[in-house]
Amino acid sequence: MKSIVILISGRGSNMEAIVQAAIPGARIAAVISNRPNAGGLAFAAAQGIATAVVDHTAYAERAAFDAALAEAIDSHAPDLVVLAGFMRVLTPGFVRQYEGRLINIHPSLLPSFTGLHTHQRALEAGVRVHGTTVHFVTAELDCGPIIIQAVVPVMAGDDEATLSARVLAQEHRIFPQAVRWIVEDRVSIDGNVARVAGVREPGVLISPPPENV
Ligand code: GAR
Repeated sequence: MKSIVILISGRGSNMEAIVQAAIPGARIAAVISNRPNAGGLAFAAAQGIATAVVDHTAYAERAAFDAALAEAIDSHAPDLVVLAGFMRVLTPGFVRQYEGRLINIHPSLLPSFTGLHTHQRALEAGVRVHGTTVHFVTAELDCGPIIIQAVVPVMAGDDEATLSARVLAQEHRIFPQAVRWIVEDRVSIDGNVARVAGVREPGVLISPPPENV
């Protein structure tokens, strides 16, 4: 049985998708938030999952926050740490400590649109496709080996709300898939490339095209 700790900062819908996937061989040991009022904490508690808050505002230094966070995580001895809408940049020391067992979901087709406000920036750039990426976390922000991506169309009349909703629906599909592959020990890292054993087209899902194309 693999033990998983999920970190959230807010709504927690991706965490919920992973919990609800009930992945065989995986146990969600804890959900930890850096914000006491994160909506996802109530869902996790209602599922009987241990929850904890490590409030970043209580720490003057990033490194001190990361040390407290690591302590909370390590008390569950996880095999995998999952960043599911966790909105704090982690120090290189923290990332090194969890290298190879720390994954993140990012709301764009990396390496495009690293950082924040990805949907608005995609609209402003006029891209025709957009999407989401699950990747291993490395010291460089939003740059680690890609496990899976989902592509969605950008449609005429889209605004940030419609585009982000279309992307979020795909996040809820690919994040549990990535976790499942890791729990099954099928994912290996080769330089900056992640490989998934037994997947012919490793990690790319194209969502169904819109009906009017
Ligand atoms: C998701 O869209 C996720 O990709 C994004 O935050 C949202 C969290 O939603 N993550 C980032 O922007 C990380 N830089 P959720 O709380 O409902 O899962």
